[in-house]
Amino acid sequence: MKRLFIFSKSTCLACFKRCCFQGWKTVFSFLLVFIVGSGNVRMQGQNKIVINTNDAKHIISKHIYGHFSEHLGRGIYGGIWVGEESPIPNTRGIRNDVVDALKSLQIPNLRWPGGCFADEYHWRDGIGPRDQRPKMINTHWGGVVEDNSFGTHEFLDLCEQLECEPYICGNVGSGTVEEMSKWIEYLTFDGESPMANLRKQNGHPDPWKIKFFGVGNENWGCGGDMTADFYADTYRRYAVYCRNYSDNRLYKIAGGPNTSDYYWTETLMKKVGNKMNALSLHYYTIPKSWGDKGSATAFDEAEYFTTMDKAYFMRELVEKHTAIMDKYDPQKRIALAPDEWGGWYNVEPGTNPGFLYQQNTLRDALLAAVTLDVFNRHCDRVKIANIAQMVNVLQSIILTDNEKMLLTPTYWVFDFYKVHQEATMLPISIAGVKYELAGKSIEAISASASRDKSGKIHITLSNIDPHQSQTVSCELLGFKTKKVSAKILTASKITDHNTFDHPKTVVPEAFKDVKLSNESLNIVLPPKSLVAIEIE
Ligand code: AHR
Repeated sequence: MKRLFIFSKSTCLACFKRCCFQGWKTVFSFLLVFIVGSGNVRMQGQNKIVINTNDAKHIISKHIYGHFSEHLGRGIYGGIWVGEESPIPNTRGIRNDVVDALKSLQIPNLRWPGGCFADEYHWRDGIGPRDQRPKMINTHWGGVVEDNSFGTHEFLDLCEQLECEPYICGNVGSGTVEEMSKWIEYLTFDGESPMANLRKQNGHPDPWKIKFFGVGNENWGCGGDMTADFYADTYRRYAVYCRNYSDNRLYKIAGGPNTSDYYWTETLMKKVGNKMNALSLHYYTIPKSWGDKGSATAFDEAEYFTTMDKAYFMRELVEKHTAIMDKYDPQKRIALAPDEWGGWYNVEPGTNPGFLYQQNTLRDALLAAVTLDVFNRHCDRVKIANIAQMVNVLQSIILTDNEKMLLTPTYWVFDFYKVHQEATMLPISIAGVKYELAGKSIEAISASASRDKSGKIHITLSNIDPHQSQTVSCELLGFKTKKVSAKILTASKITDHNTFDHPKTVVPEAFKDVKLSNESLNIVLPPKSLVAIEIE
């Protein structure tokens, strides 16, 4: 009620003035709106968006839409890799249904093998005949046996099937410089050398092209528990031996800060600088605390509000880390790479706590939309990002259960946003209302816009308020609109999600509430919805 009252102050005043002029009809509708507003249905918020097509400068790198698959729980084993003998349809051991669903998203890159697992992974265990590969214990994730049946060749086969760039993360925490440099030689050297010959012996005569290479992961924690200064020096040493063989050019990504560890960024920028191509950033949205993160599906409005508030924190992180990077790199040659992001909740009841398997609701879709809007709108610095994780782990876009597969609400966000890949970002200003709860407020509207290579404009727009619809008047400076089409992702409840029995509870639908009038678009965004608009 308080929220309604605060929002309504100016609107009510305007309504009241109109009442005096327009007689009993208006008085009646004013009262009606007020009475309805005091129940669950609330008044519409009025929002103004201006998109300036004349001021478009930066390209949204497609790599902002990257994914991540770690040797963790059923992320790889079961979710992607089922083996050649499986009754689940597969191509050389890799699930066909998962590959088909991912291909339609135009996944640009895939990060592997971790995560924390990367700094315990010894790549030579994962090559050669599968039945001779050594087994290990995945101490980090559930203490299960890792039989190394999914290794370098299988991962690169997956990337080829997906037509995406591999993003390989090397082992700094427990691996040697020699081990890392030999992996790069094995992967990319085109000629006679011990490692290139070993690759040929294992059935791959040609080198692969590897662009993205991570020099460690979370080196402030599971990747070696290093200080910023120690890691900066260590990075420099390892990076020397990350060679560019033949015409392969590595794009080296340094292990970056944990959330708001600005000292880490400052140190890396000062001591490493342009010896790295990108600096990673990890931030997870955890509604409660590390001990009890909150349920993925059973949450109340207060928890939803907190989640969205924390999702918006990504903007502060990007801006503050960018400000530090700008001091040392005003030309923005070094990218910020949020290569682990997403919602992290308690595991589904009855599942292995080390497997991080969680469901995915409409809340996650809106969390992803808010985050991707931040990346799009900061695409001059953010050039690669990876949601954690692709299948069956944390904020997944796909869940599997043996032969069954479902697409989560977050999958549809990536589907809506794929139009932004390699498009020109259009600056957007939003004068919008707030979503308020218990004396706190956050922006109700999140949006980003771009112009694709064919000249079409795409706007992705979400209303995170779960009760109130939003009227958005959207002005497009420098563009003559001829045709508009739109689709929407929403559901009855913010907790709604897709299950193996009901896989279509949260799916996109056509959206008609976009009207063109006097050179501007008028949109009515339903509560808790994401809309993608295409304009010609
Ligand atoms: O994504 C799960 C884990 O979260 C990763 O392994 C690690 O890098 C991070 O702490």
